[in-house]
Amino acid sequence: MSTAISPTAYNYKVVRQFAIMTVVWGILGMGLGVFIASQLVWPELNFGLPWTTFGRLRPLHTNLVIFAFGGCALFATSYYVVQRTCQTRLISDSLAAFTFWGWQAVIVGAIVTLPLGYTTTKEYAELEWPIAILLAIVWVTYAVVFFGTIVKRKTKHIYVGNWFYGAFILVTAMLHIVNHASLPVSLFKSYSAYAGATDAMIQWWYGHNAVGFFLTTGFLGMMYYFVPKQAERPIYSYRLSIVHFWALITLYIWAGPHHLHYTALPDWAQSLGMAMSIILLAPSWGGMINGMMTLSGAWHKLRTDPILRFLVVSLAFYGMSTFEGPMMAIKTVNSLSHYTDWTIGHVHAGALGWVAMISIGAIYHMIPRLFGRVQMHSVALINTHFWLATIGTVLYIASMWVNGITQGLMWRAINHDGTLTYSFVEALQASHPGYIVRALGGAFFAAGMLFMAYNVWRTVRASDPAEAEAAAKIAVVGAH
Ligand code: HEM
Ligand code: HEM
Repeated sequence: MSTAISPTAYNYKVVRQFAIMTVVWGILGMGLGVFIASQLVWPELNFGLPWTTFGRLRPLHTNLVIFAFGGCALFATSYYVVQRTCQTRLISDSLAAFTFWGWQAVIVGAIVTLPLGYTTTKEYAELEWPIAILLAIVWVTYAVVFFGTIVKRKTKHIYVGNWFYGAFILVTAMLHIVNHASLPVSLFKSYSAYAGATDAMIQWWYGHNAVGFFLTTGFLGMMYYFVPKQAERPIYSYRLSIVHFWALITLYIWAGPHHLHYTALPDWAQSLGMAMSIILLAPSWGGMINGMMTLSGAWHKLRTDPILRFLVVSLAFYGMSTFEGPMMAIKTVNSLSHYTDWTIGHVHAGALGWVAMISIGAIYHMIPRLFGRVQMHSVALINTHFWLATIGTVLYIASMWVNGITQGLMWRAINHDGTLTYSFVEALQASHPGYIVRALGGAFFAAGMLFMAYNVWRTVRASDPAEAEAAAKIAVVGAH
């Protein structure tokens, strides 16, 4: 088969690069997660060094799992999906390559600066201004490549998955640029352009919509392509997917204040955030149901296809965390859950159960197609990975629920004379068993990623990328 890349064939090179880095960063980010989880069990693991303390490694964990692992999965799948559903090659190979190398440079910047203590102190937006500017440039280039490809599409309409990816790209750009507005005072120190409660509101408008658009909308784009593909069934309802899209993006943007209950933020803003969060349950479940129902008539495939299992279980966790979120947004519930491990459990129900599982499913779907193989090296290993990931997630979130509710109840327990029943340290001691179970659950999940790496490596080693490109070319030509 010819190795020459025809202008009509897809650019799979950049997809391959991002897909492989998803696995690499997944292992590093989750490995670091297990490490910081272990620090909460055995504080000696802080090693008494500033660079290895929990406080510095925690933001590195969040940056690696969200932006490196999740980000690479989103780049890989969006470039794959936009080309296949638009039946055309990315508009520019060099701009696409720039997004790959630029994004890796941002991640390396995070790995170097965060342990050294350079941080804006804004959660999920910690990277200091030079790296933040690079990130903005890469992101705008990403938007140019993605939307440019949509513009030159050969198909009449724009597949709904691309709507979700498009919204994720646009809103992430807006959030990042607005929240990062700051005044640099030195090469690695800047001060936010906002102050006081306004700063807090902008930060959580960013933070919540990073969840809503980075960790949700982008992955829903993935869902709308890979679930029907893997199930070999059309999406359950195209009409529902359009309603889902508009409802989700109009509602998400208002819910940020639920991160600031009982703070100096005006009360009306807190209540608005709470109300919008509760309404958000509807589009979230609409999307979940649309994905699940796509399996109508194909449920039997779950018995034999572990990739489909990853995709479907991710939807179940999506449904669960988007039920839990609106409940936690209710002020009275939040007064118990806030500051406790319940929040951490909720985060990882979404992060492990939804974000990681759907990404893993999508990568398993793509790898053989990207590398010219019929299927992954070992289906049995995918199945092992599936069980490690599922058991790991359940151990993680169950232990954090128990810890969270225990902490919340112990902190608010009051004696007849008005003094606190428990000291903080007593609540910490009560949390210790939960921290051990969480670290164990995390180790299960991370171990699954190692199986994935081996499986991917074996598949890639036996591959012929030229064949994949040729197959894509035939697909494109055949579609005309
Ligand atoms: C092996 C898997 C993982 C383990 C063991 C793990 C462990 C941890 C630990 C110990 C923390 C700090 C909790 C605290 O401060 O009390 C944390 C925070 C966090 N992790 Fe993970 N993590 C894992 C995977 C992930 C993944 C895949 C994502 C995202 C896709 C993620 C996103 C986050 C976020 C957003 C936070 C901050 C939560 C908050 O501030 O409320 N984690 N993780
Ligand atoms: C309808 C959907 C959702 C709603 C209404 C919601 C609501 C909430 C609420 C009320 C909190 C606690 C805020 C606090 O007490 O500080 C929270 C925290 C969080 N949620 Fe959700 N959630 C939703 C879905 C998700 C999903 C699907 C994910 C992950 C993929 C996620 C990730 C997070 C993260 C990372 C935090 C911690 C933020 C921090 O404090 O650092 N949420 N969410």
